[in-house]
Amino acid sequence: MIRPILIHPDPRLKKPCDPVAEITAEVRILAKDMLDTMYDAPGIGLAAPQVGVMKRVLVMDCIKDGPPRPMVLINPRVVWSSEESSSYEEGCLSIPDQYAEVRRPADVRVEWVDLDGAPQDEQFTGLWATCVQHEIDHLDGKLFIDYLGPLKRQMITRKMEKLKRERARQG
Ligand code: NI
Repeated sequence: MIRPILIHPDPRLKKPCDPVAEITAEVRILAKDMLDTMYDAPGIGLAAPQVGVMKRVLVMDCIKDGPPRPMVLINPRVVWSSEESSSYEEGCLSIPDQYAEVRRPADVRVEWVDLDGAPQDEQFTGLWATCVQHEIDHLDGKLFIDYLGPLKRQMITRKMEKLKRERARQG
């Protein structure tokens, strides 16, 4: 089921999320809905707070061509970051049509729990590394525009406020 995506500014996008204590049926349905919502958007990553669920769950699939690789990461955390950084033009499904260069560690090692409750870990590079860091930021109440200067951030926020007013008016 596709769930509505919250648009910035929204207090739920600024709050740290709670760890998942147990993989329940509710968590499985959430993960499936988040993948459906991400592919429908379309996007390469989505974090639970973006659909209004304040839990540490993210989904991603950065494959552009070839068979999809839907990933579900529960309670993910970065356990190692490279000293080398790289810059990508990032966007966000909660900040539609706005893009900006963000510099982050080029490679990260991430540990998480999968939907079977099994511990997983992987070293991510390239777009995957950018994406997983962007999504983990969401779980900590942080958006990519928080890396920008205050003027750029305010400009984007005002555009989003306008977009939300227009959408509300259209009902
Ligand atoms: Ni995002």
